[in-house]
Amino acid sequence: IDPTLKLVDEINRLKKEKNAVILSHYYVEGELQDIADFVGDSLQLAQAAATTEAEMIVFVGVHFMAETAKIINPSKKVILPDLKAGCSLAESAPAEKFAAFKQKYPDHQVISYINCTADLKTMTDVVCTSSNAVKIVESFPKDAKLIFAPDKNLGNYINSQTGREMVLWDGACMVHEQYSVEKIIELMDAHPDAEFIAHPECEKPVLLLAKHIGSTSSLLNYVQQSPATKFIVATESGILHQMKKACPDKIFIPAPSNDSTCACNDCSYMKLNSLQKLYICMKHELPEVSLPKDVIDKARVPIERMLEISK
Ligand code: 13P
Ligand code: SF4
Repeated sequence: IDPTLKLVDEINRLKKEKNAVILSHYYVEGELQDIADFVGDSLQLAQAAATTEAEMIVFVGVHFMAETAKIINPSKKVILPDLKAGCSLAESAPAEKFAAFKQKYPDHQVISYINCTADLKTMTDVVCTSSNAVKIVESFPKDAKLIFAPDKNLGNYINSQTGREMVLWDGACMVHEQYSVEKIIELMDAHPDAEFIAHPECEKPVLLLAKHIGSTSSLLNYVQQSPATKFIVATESGILHQMKKACPDKIFIPAPSNDSTCACNDCSYMKLNSLQKLYICMKHELPEVSLPKDVIDKARVPIERMLEISK
């Protein structure tokens, strides 16, 4: 690519030419959020994908998100800048192993966090995201026997909020498991005026310290409503872009991780996206998400249930 090429202009031109919509998650780089037609959390992006009239969906996030968009729009072309943008949570629940696990609980229904593979969704009764997990769980009768997969931290948190005892699959997000309780406490001591807020994918000891726990969109709403002017934020650092845009006079500090040598509160999968890859993907309409028809047909049912309950 010519280094002088104005990527942003070119991407916008291709978007019009191909009647495409760009959906970006809060965790991708700021410039990829700014170029999007819609920026949001997992639920908002699934809802945007379900209602778009564009012919082509360009998903700037990770693979399971693009896959979800394809499942609800089988006739549309869904592309993403890098096919290798996976997710440690989705990888933590391979379909065959989950099928064997599920067999041990034949009278249980399955609620799956959207951060999972399409194959896992085919074994699911209702999908949820961190925004609507409590609502989805509460939509089942109090005595319903439930399996929650694949995030044990979110599952534990939802159990604590709803008084349920869902059976949990033992999966976790590598980004949200990296936070150091000790370092967070030190930072809170150094900034007594700061509020500590966290995503429910974090481990319980981290969540116990938090003033507010919520999905990315919930955290973003919270910092705008709170009278506090300083926040320590325990989730992927991409969200800070929108927080700073919404509240330019407030201060946002990424929560510290256990490993000071790496940017562990960056999701290496989300960060595989770049403007250049976005441009190339839109130009060549590749890589494209494709799934067998039977997988699409089965996986669509629990996603549509989620969208219906979330209305
Ligand atoms: P939400 O966008 O639902 O907060 O989820 C965060 C996440 O981990 C997406 O990968
Ligand atoms: Fe998956 Fe965690 Fe990255 Fe979200 S932040 S995409 S859950 S690895």
